[in-house]
Amino acid sequence: MTSLLTSTTTDAPMTDALETRTIVTLTVNGREVTATKGEMLIAAADRVGTYIPRFCYHPRMEPVGVCRMCLVEVDGPRGATLQPACYIQVGEGMVVNTESEKVKKAQDGVLEFLLANHPLDCPVCDKGGECPLQDQTLAHGSGETRFIEEKRHFPKPIEIGELVLLDRERCIQCSRCTRFASEVAGDAQIDFAGRGDNIEVAPSPTEPFDSVFSGNTVQICPVGALTAKPYRFTARPWDLEQVESTCTTCAVGCRVAVQSSSNRLTRVLGMDSEAVNHGWLCDKGRFAIDSVVGIDEAPLTDSARRIMEPMIRRNGELETATWGEALREAARIISSAPTPSAVGAIGGAALTNEGAFAWQRFFRGVVGTDSIDAQYGDGLDPVLVAALPRATINEAAEACTVVLLTGDLREELPVLFLRLREGLVKGTTNAVEMSASGSALSALSRVKLPIRPGEVHLVAQAIATDDAPLATLASHPHGGLFTSADLVEARRLIGDDGSSVVFVVGRPNVAESAAPIEAAIRIFAEHFPQAKFLPTLRRGNVNGALDMGLTPNLAPGQQFAPTAGRSTLEQLRAVTTGEQSVIVALGGDILENVVDTPLATAALKAASLIAVTGHGGPSLAFADVVLPTTVMHERLGTVTNIEGRVSLLAPKVTPPGSTWPDVAIASELAEEFGQHLGLSDPEETANVIEATTGYPCGSAMRSAMEGVVVGRIDAQTERRPLDPMAFPGIRSADLVGIAPRAGAIASSDASTAGVAVRPTLSNVAGDINPVIPMPDTYSLRLVVDRTIYDNGAAVRGTEALRALVPTSVLRVNPHDLTRIGVTSGGAVRLTSARGSEVIAVLADGAVPRGCVALRLGTLATAEASDSANVVNWIVDSEQVVVEVRMESL
Ligand code: SF4
Ligand code: SF4
Ligand code: FES
Repeated sequence: MTSLLTSTTTDAPMTDALETRTIVTLTVNGREVTATKGEMLIAAADRVGTYIPRFCYHPRMEPVGVCRMCLVEVDGPRGATLQPACYIQVGEGMVVNTESEKVKKAQDGVLEFLLANHPLDCPVCDKGGECPLQDQTLAHGSGETRFIEEKRHFPKPIEIGELVLLDRERCIQCSRCTRFASEVAGDAQIDFAGRGDNIEVAPSPTEPFDSVFSGNTVQICPVGALTAKPYRFTARPWDLEQVESTCTTCAVGCRVAVQSSSNRLTRVLGMDSEAVNHGWLCDKGRFAIDSVVGIDEAPLTDSARRIMEPMIRRNGELETATWGEALREAARIISSAPTPSAVGAIGGAALTNEGAFAWQRFFRGVVGTDSIDAQYGDGLDPVLVAALPRATINEAAEACTVVLLTGDLREELPVLFLRLREGLVKGTTNAVEMSASGSALSALSRVKLPIRPGEVHLVAQAIATDDAPLATLASHPHGGLFTSADLVEARRLIGDDGSSVVFVVGRPNVAESAAPIEAAIRIFAEHFPQAKFLPTLRRGNVNGALDMGLTPNLAPGQQFAPTAGRSTLEQLRAVTTGEQSVIVALGGDILENVVDTPLATAALKAASLIAVTGHGGPSLAFADVVLPTTVMHERLGTVTNIEGRVSLLAPKVTPPGSTWPDVAIASELAEEFGQHLGLSDPEETANVIEATTGYPCGSAMRSAMEGVVVGRIDAQTERRPLDPMAFPGIRSADLVGIAPRAGAIASSDASTAGVAVRPTLSNVAGDINPVIPMPDTYSLRLVVDRTIYDNGAAVRGTEALRALVPTSVLRVNPHDLTRIGVTSGGAVRLTSARGSEVIAVLADGAVPRGCVALRLGTLATAEASDSANVVNWIVDSEQVVVEVRMESL
């Protein structure tokens, strides 16, 4: 292995760069304005309210100056000349005129050329009514054309990706889409082809445009050339109503505009949050709105089915019931448990903070059990997470070094991947990747430390302390995976105390217990006191649910509360041994979320199950009572993202059927026990949370900021004024409202956040040095990682995404395939302590020697529609690592 010490890659700065901003004064249309030296003229003009028309300029991408729509007059030594405002930087004493006759004539001319080949499609174009070309032609165009020549014609539309269509004759060659693909996402499968009059955007002839960010190209295309298959022809812009909200498909918490027409969700657009998503969304978050209503004809055991009425199992079948009957039956089941500790709750990551708080109050206060857990055995110890000094997304994106000790972020937290990628591409951030199966950031990482399951804490020790663990690592039957030079470089990038270093930490392998990775995180936290941590717990509002006390060992507000409650896996085991008899499932389906399917199935068979859910799922086959909840885009509340930012969830459509919000269900169920939760609605609950714990739900609900960061006033950023050209389709919130808000807050409201007694590293249980024996020569260790298009509720319930779920394939290091004489594309017999199965294999150099990797939530075969695949029987949650054998057939 080549030492990276000899690499010629430019190093990112090891210390914070001193901010040296110089203010310059210029004149725009006779008015004196100030700007930062180096700022683009178009951006400086925007800030002072002077709008310069543009097509190719986008504030989040490098300027290219290709459309010439932004020509303005700038005085220079040779008099006033026309210059593109998006491509020149402001300078001291610059004199600019954006309104002169010369400028207007130039803008007319540019529009006339752009329209030379543009079809008269507006009445049938998705963009009609929100199209900058339409608007600017009305505002600046000449009113009639002098062209009589035939326009370009193309077969229309062509499919350039699974989700994106292209009408080539509408394209004005602004290159926003191609720049986004190559510059922002790193998926350069679309580019310009042809020259002159024949130029067109074209997909790669060999690779499909399968970017998980493809919807952003549609959003930023300034005309109707790119359209999204799921939205095409479904609505007209003038019929749309909109609220600002937060995406809860994963835990990044991207800010979104949710639009509807006649109480039907139609579109989700990314809003430019400086703190979070910079306007970008992933395709799963953007298109999963169809899963809210789901697929009517799907069976109850399919998570694509929306649940709209309460149900009770009678004579072996789930039958519709009234809310009164269902609540009484649920109360009867809970009361029939022999002791309070025989009742437990699993789930909650899909709830709002207010829903989570109400349920924890019900379980702790009314039932008397601490066995509640919003994670499914694949997360991190919430005490450890709460004890870590938390980084914001911006801090991670701007750190000198990020240490990636997590799954593939492009698959798990896609927009966090985009935010980190920017610094790695620019060279302002270095990455040290510690991974068991590689990631989309591997190629950009300065140091790659491949890690086998069960070894991560040894590598952490080697980085933080000394070389001693290297001998153990080298004793692996397949040898060590990195050189001492790699280790030296990693140490150098992290430094002595971790200043300006962010550790991005999660569960990269769900076939491995949490013990090794939690030990590694603790080692880093103890040895690098100046470092910060960004935990990548990935489910929608899992961070908020844990902070609200849906965990056995934390009370609401992240207060440490050592109790005797059981975690999810402990609950499932306790059911199989008879210590627990009732499970209440909050939100997500247990069988779809717990990786150890045999354990979950055995527990669900033995327990009484009350499912509080908005969607069906395989676990409903075991449910005794089903209580239907409202889901995303139907409910008001707050959620907390990975950095601890509490932001508003706004309802956009009326909930269907007899669904209720969780606060109401928990409160009414408490009434069945003769108790009052004292929580009547989400607003009141948010205020109660803040008043009792200091956790800023009430403030976030009223805030005019981009959410309120728990304990971090300094990490709050103001909502950016919307740039309708940068984000076409999003009308200003000032015009359409920002969902229910009770008024502005005093900043002192938020300052109470974080006053709770937070846990420290000394409260974290578990062995910091777990001893895990080395495997024998024939054994391989299993890595189970994730894919964005897993076979879960969001994807299954969305017609356009359903076809994107991949089939299962075993990824194996080429060295190991050669060893057993199997070629990539062939099949092997995979055997574990639980059984044996034949599976297709693919050579993958990112998987370390001595390991095999599988993706969770993939399909057993292309034809299979359920989620059962080899992962579902092979992972044993009792084992720290899962050993398998692989044989040729
Ligand atoms: S398809 Fe749209 S975004 Fe892409 S170059 Fe053409 S006009 Fe610009
Ligand atoms: S990254 Fe996460 S929060 Fe952002 S759009 Fe995608 S799913 Fe939604
Ligand atoms: S050249 Fe300036 S916006 Fe296109």
